[in-house]
Amino acid sequence: MAPPLPRIESDQRFIAAGRTGSGKTTLACWFLNRSVQHWVILNPKHTAIYRQLPDSLVYRKFKPRDLISDLSRRKFLNLELSDAEATPEFMDGIIGWLHSTLTHVGLCVDEVYTLHTGTGRAGPGLIGWLTRGRERRQSFLGLVQRPAWVSRFCFTEASALIEMDLLFPEDRDTLYEYTGSQYFLQRVLGHRWLYYDVARDRAELFGPVPTLSTQLRSA
Ligand SMILES: Nc1ncnc2c1ncn2[C@@H]1O[C@H](COP(=O)(O)OP(=O)(O)OP(=O)(O)O)[C@@H](O)[C@H]1O
Ligand SMILES: [Mg+2]
Repeated sequence: MAPPLPRIESDQRFIAAGRTGSGKTTLACWFLNRSVQHWVILNPKHTAIYRQLPDSLVYRKFKPRDLISDLSRRKFLNLELSDAEATPEFMDGIIGWLHSTLTHVGLCVDEVYTLHTGTGRAGPGLIGWLTRGRERRQSFLGLVQRPAWVSRFCFTEASALIEMDLLFPEDRDTLYEYTGSQYFLQRVLGHRWLYYDVARDRAELFGPVPTLSTQLRSA
């Protein structure tokens, strides 16, 4: 029997890692669409597909005063910030503000490396969200091209780690290190995804998810 397809519950943190073009954003949209929570999407690369999520609203500037009421009405707030605001420090400050202001909300970051400073460190906002956010039902979905380059908190606090295609052995080793699962040492090709459930200490390989346009056509 095929294993059930995972969902991100309200206190969970998921990390999805894969090279460019491996299908991270496509997988993220599939998870977001299946979630019952409302989500803030930090999208400094301005990836267009998030705009097609049903009931989404684009912010080009961080507007804390409007955000709470907008997020109560709309399922997705897609933050396509300007270069001036899309700095690691400013975005980390946004996460800190979200953490202290909201409960029962998800944060999707595409991509997590953009929150790291030149020295490769994550800021207090991201670390606070990952470590203390569970109590406040703040879930997380972080997309990462190079797992070897991001803070260890992303992995040690994760409920699930997902590997898509990773080119570099160093990146696959990083996921192996945090899961202990040998499956992570191999490449995962063809938009498939290797899903590791931390609590169950179990890895499962899933086939490609439907793209957002396929999901919307069949809705
Ligand atoms: N499950 C899938 N089924 C069919 N096509 C897919 C699937 N996943 C991804 N693709 C296609 O592969 C391409 C790259 O996917 P996607 O943008 O999701 O990758 P990515 O890992 O987010 O890349 P980047 O790191 O550059 O942002 C897209 O054209 C997308 O439509
Ligand atoms: Mg992407």
